[in-house]
Amino acid sequence: MEGEPVSALFTPALVVDVDKVKRNAQRMRERCHKLGVQLRPHMKTHKTLECADIMTDGSRQCIVVSTLAEASFYADHGFDDILYAYCLPLDKVERCAALSERLDLFQVLLDHPDALEQLRKRPLKGSRQWHVWLKLDCGNGRAGVLHSEPGSLQLAQAIAEADGVELTGVYAHCGNTYNCRGVEQIQTVAQETTNLTLQFMDKLEAFGISCKSSIGSTPSCSHPVQDMGKLSEVHPGNYVFYDVQQSMIGSCSLDDVAVKVLTRVIGHCPHRNQLLVDCGWAGISLDGSGKLPTGYAVIEGHPNLKLLSMTQEHGRVEPTSGPLDYSKYPIGSLLTLIPYHSCATAMMHPVYYVHSEGCLLGKWTPTRGW
Ligand SMILES: Cc1ncc(COP(=O)(O)O)c(C=O)c1O
Repeated sequence: MEGEPVSALFTPALVVDVDKVKRNAQRMRERCHKLGVQLRPHMKTHKTLECADIMTDGSRQCIVVSTLAEASFYADHGFDDILYAYCLPLDKVERCAALSERLDLFQVLLDHPDALEQLRKRPLKGSRQWHVWLKLDCGNGRAGVLHSEPGSLQLAQAIAEADGVELTGVYAHCGNTYNCRGVEQIQTVAQETTNLTLQFMDKLEAFGISCKSSIGSTPSCSHPVQDMGKLSEVHPGNYVFYDVQQSMIGSCSLDDVAVKVLTRVIGHCPHRNQLLVDCGWAGISLDGSGKLPTGYAVIEGHPNLKLLSMTQEHGRVEPTSGPLDYSKYPIGSLLTLIPYHSCATAMMHPVYYVHSEGCLLGKWTPTRGW
């Protein structure tokens, strides 16, 4: 496989342009360096060792994960300073304890006193402490204690005062930047989240509590506001691949997208003015639905084509207008799909084929599960 062109691959195949991955990673590092904030990259988009090495510049330190499967996978391969940034699931306390007792620094996150109670009931061996981040909701509207609720400060205090537990930081994820269009809107949300987080830190300070602070998402960290430099850390992840969604938000250009799905024409259907391709929703995610004039993806180099619908292993492609010129798309010919959502699309592939300028370099194998 190595040295062959990507066109030699069986399809559908997820291909990763390693030069773009390295460029995206380098730009984010430089941006954070300039701001003076620690970058703690999230691994959820790719879940591979190779990409983690690129994102951490080989240090194998200071990462965020969304599942314990990722945490164990990275721990098994010598990574440390891992933050499991998912509100502590009570069925997984023992697995978190094992990682905390094994690594120099394994960190958990919570947003409920019941989770804190579970940690107190499971003291770590030796003189180890649980390292706990408080998840704060600054307008994202998903997990986290609401920044304005008195209970959020009380929970922070309870964590700070609990035996065997240390309040390591406050973590606010600004996923609401995904509703933005353009840099100005992104920066408005980034500024709001930063302000609310820093105000919360001031309130903690008034109680004599000091700890780290972190916000981040790919849109906000692609166009950070200056005040983000007052935070301790940022935690974006998708930026290493980017996708059509990010280009529509304004985080990147379409040329920055490092992952594509190769598919082949497997049928001509002139009675419907359509082509069939061998990529269905098992090969590219459905979440572009209704968001793009070109259907579920952008078909590279063919702005006139639309990925209209998919079943598990089939995709229907039609022209955006006029009759289809079938001579341009012979059976067996390749089309390249740029995914709307790279995290969801990568999740579907057991291996990623890595190339530089279309020449295959090898495979990356992601970890899976929870
Ligand atoms: C808790 C948390 N932190 C960090 C991230 C990374 O953000 P992004 O995917 O925008 O890079 C995510 C993404 O969903 C997240 O859920």
